Amino acid sequence: FEKIPLELTVNNKVYQTTVEPRVTLLDYLREELHLTGTKKGCDHGQCGACTVHVDGQRVNSCLSLAVMNEGKKITTIEGLANGETLHPMQAAFIKHDGFQCGYCTPGQIMSAVACVREGHTGSRAEISEYMSGNICRCGAYPNIVDAIIEVKE
Ligand code: FES
Repeated sequence: FEKIPLELTVNNKVYQTTVEPRVTLLDYLREELHLTGTKKGCDHGQCGACTVHVDGQRVNSCLSLAVMNEGKKITTIEGLANGETLHPMQAAFIKHDGFQCGYCTPGQIMSAVACVREGHTGSRAEISEYMSGNICRCGAYPNIVDAIIEVKE
C-alpha cells in the first residue's frame, strides 16, 4: 500500500509522518512511535487494553485507523504522568491494588480518567457500567472501582 501523509499530536509532541492507510492507530503508536504502554489484547474492540484519548474522548485505538486521526490530539498512558509525578489515577491504582498482572492496566487507567472526567461516578454500578469495556482477566474490578472513587472525591 502507498503511504500517505499524517500529522498528529501524541502526548503534546507533533509527529509528521507517512503511514499506510491500513495501519491502525494502535499499531502506529506501538510500532512507529514505540509507545508500547498501549496494549494489544484482542485487536477487535472487545477488551479495552488499547484505550487512548483522542481529543479528550476515550477510543479503542485498535478500531481507529491512524489516518483517521489527522490533526488530532492523542494521549496515551505515557502522557498521563507529570514528569516524575504520577497522575492521581495512576497513584490510586497502586494504592488500591487495581491490577495484578498489569496487562490491562494502561487501558483501565485511560478509561478510568475518562470516567471521572465525564462524571460517570454516581455509584459503584455506574462506574462498573462505564468501565465494562475494559476486561481484566485477574479480576481486579472491585479495586479498580475503589481507585476511581478515591480520585473522584
Ligand atoms: Fe483494542 Fe482489545 S485491543 S479493544
